[in-house]
Amino acid sequence: MQTTTALTSYLEQSDEVKARFAAIKERPVILEVNHLGKTYPSHQGTVEALRDVNFKIHRREFVCVIGPSGCGKSSLIRTLAGLETVTSGEILIDGNPIDGPGQDRGMVFQGYTLFPWLTVKKNVMFGLERAGKSRIEAESDALMWLDLVGLDKFADAYPHQLSGGMKQRVAIARSLATQPRILLMDEPFGALDAQTRTKMQSHLLDIWKNIDITVLFITHDLDEAVFLADRILVLKAHPGEVQELIEVPVPRPRTLDQLNSPEFLATRARVDELIHPPVTEEEGEDISARIIRLTKVTDNVE
Ligand SMILES: Nc1ncnc2c1ncn2[C@@H]1O[C@H](COP(=O)(O)OP(=O)(O)OP(=O)(O)O)[C@@H](O)[C@H]1O
Ligand SMILES: [Mg+2]
Repeated sequence: MQTTTALTSYLEQSDEVKARFAAIKERPVILEVNHLGKTYPSHQGTVEALRDVNFKIHRREFVCVIGPSGCGKSSLIRTLAGLETVTSGEILIDGNPIDGPGQDRGMVFQGYTLFPWLTVKKNVMFGLERAGKSRIEAESDALMWLDLVGLDKFADAYPHQLSGGMKQRVAIARSLATQPRILLMDEPFGALDAQTRTKMQSHLLDIWKNIDITVLFITHDLDEAVFLADRILVLKAHPGEVQELIEVPVPRPRTLDQLNSPEFLATRARVDELIHPPVTEEEGEDISARIIRLTKVTDNVE
């Protein structure tokens, strides 16, 4: 087990990292969220999913959102996507308030959302044709985006012929093809096995490096957040409020051998502390009191 005592604070940044954040802050703001609140009606009254959420994301910035289950991560991203209405506050893209879903925001969900009856290429062409491109243009664009995600050879395959990781690569190609200003990703690698997930993280960073795209990425995996993000927005539960906005001091380009670097571990430890606060004695007792023993007390089961 790693201990955090010998680590530097995540607040300490090398000169190179400081310069990178200074440059990011100089870039135009793509997404601005002001005093966002989201409440749902429910049988027991209302559920307040988000309260007074404020943040900005600059062009080509990669921001991860993390928080305990039920803290409002999906509510946040669905509201940003225009799939849910806001209860209070405002969301601006390039300074303009959003009004429902739009081509300026691409979305990748956890579940596989490709059309099963269309080939990989036609899945990517779908949005392009809807946006008014001719069939020929849409086809050549789709092939270019499939090439970018390394799946040009699978253009004529159907989704059921692809692995989970490949399906998500097509979903990424499909979202990027319509050239959104920001890519909104809700736990896109959550259903993948650990090894594929790690590969997809590196792959996503490669894609991000090669194109002009801003990313908001929801996860509940601490390593994933620290590995991918420029900044991590930590939400707290009930209602979802911003707890901390962490500037990740790990230099870029990111590589897997940074996972044990002091900067990585210090950041991970801080996020862990925020989303897994120590269990109080009362809570601990409550949990053990509820565990029902289904073996005889005399059975030695350990
Ligand atoms: N359509 C809805 N109607 C009523 N309540 C909802 C609705 N969607 C979400 N909620 C409630 O809002 C709160 C936040 O839910 P949300 O799905 O945004 O959390 P989450 O952080 O994405 O959770 P998870 O980590 O499990 O994906 C929860 O209390 C949930 O029950
Ligand atoms: Mg969710």
